[in-house]
Amino acid sequence: MRLSELSFRGRAAIVTGGGSGIGREIGLGIARLGGRVCFADMDPDKAESAAAESRAGGSESIAVRVDVTRADDVDRMVGAAREAFGTVDVLVNNAGGASGPSFRIGRVCKLSEQDWDDTFAVNLKSVFLCTRAVAPLMLAQERGSIVNMASLTGQFPFPGLPAYSAAKAAVISLTQSLAMELAPHVRVNALAPGLIETPRTSLNRRPEQLGQLLSNVPLARMGSPEEVADMALYLASDAAAFISGTVMDCAGGQMWLTRDGRPAFRDLDRAD
Ligand SMILES: NC(=O)c1ccc[n+]([C@@H]2O[C@H](COP(=O)([O-])OP(=O)(O)OC[C@H]3O[C@@H](n4cnc5c(N)ncnc54)[C@H](O)[C@@H]3O)[C@@H](O)[C@H]2O)c1
Repeated sequence: MRLSELSFRGRAAIVTGGGSGIGREIGLGIARLGGRVCFADMDPDKAESAAAESRAGGSESIAVRVDVTRADDVDRMVGAAREAFGTVDVLVNNAGGASGPSFRIGRVCKLSEQDWDDTFAVNLKSVFLCTRAVAPLMLAQERGSIVNMASLTGQFPFPGLPAYSAAKAAVISLTQSLAMELAPHVRVNALAPGLIETPRTSLNRRPEQLGQLLSNVPLARMGSPEEVADMALYLASDAAAFISGTVMDCAGGQMWLTRDGRPAFRDLDRAD
């Protein structure tokens, strides 16, 4: 399939965290290109709103409430998708983020054990649980594509976000293991977004931080969820049939350093 012919016609997808931000745009994009989508989210109203929008466009999409950190919930989510669609061809492990105070920039000494565990559960364990539940279907049908949402912080650790950075680095490693393990019929890739304007980032950002954040981005703006979604659509589709085990950045050239090479964040002490 050439990029100009991109289509998910006849394909069924699960998008975790599909109720908001990047996941919502990925799910809506797959549906617009002819796919059926299971919008899976902890927030059932947001998931249903995304599924309803894609149904209005003609897709047979569904919404499922799931906590991706719980194996029983994940198995139920995959069961619901199978019941509705017969199978699963695409899995987008997008649900994630940094829980509670760990999202604030701060030193490791202030990070609670609970925040560490929660951050690893939602960003890393979720990828294991969802992949474990879906991989047998993909292996049996000899077709499947998995896209994991990592982060630029997984490649260039972000001072002040140790749990999130380490969990996303582990998502990249897990992506590479799975790409080898599930080949040759199932492809596994990761995306590493930088600063993307979503409900989560605008809520967590202090207004005075924006200028400082953007000073670290060579392209001098935040990315949009649509820009990340387009990369996910490519990786999930047959247009990327020879691509597996890769990590693609969507970060405006950002490398967590200022353009003159100084550390990106100098306000750790203030944040503590
Ligand atoms: N926005 C960014 O700047 C950015 C940058 C790098 C990576 N990412 C990654 O992209 C992904 C999406 O981020 P976003 O900014 O769109 O976030 P968002 O908060 O807008 O959306 C995340 C969605 O996931 C759902 N969710 C959270 N925990 C869940 C759970 N346990 N089970 C099921 N659903 C759950 C939320 O209800 C929400 O609808 C995350 O993995 C995030 O780490 C985002």
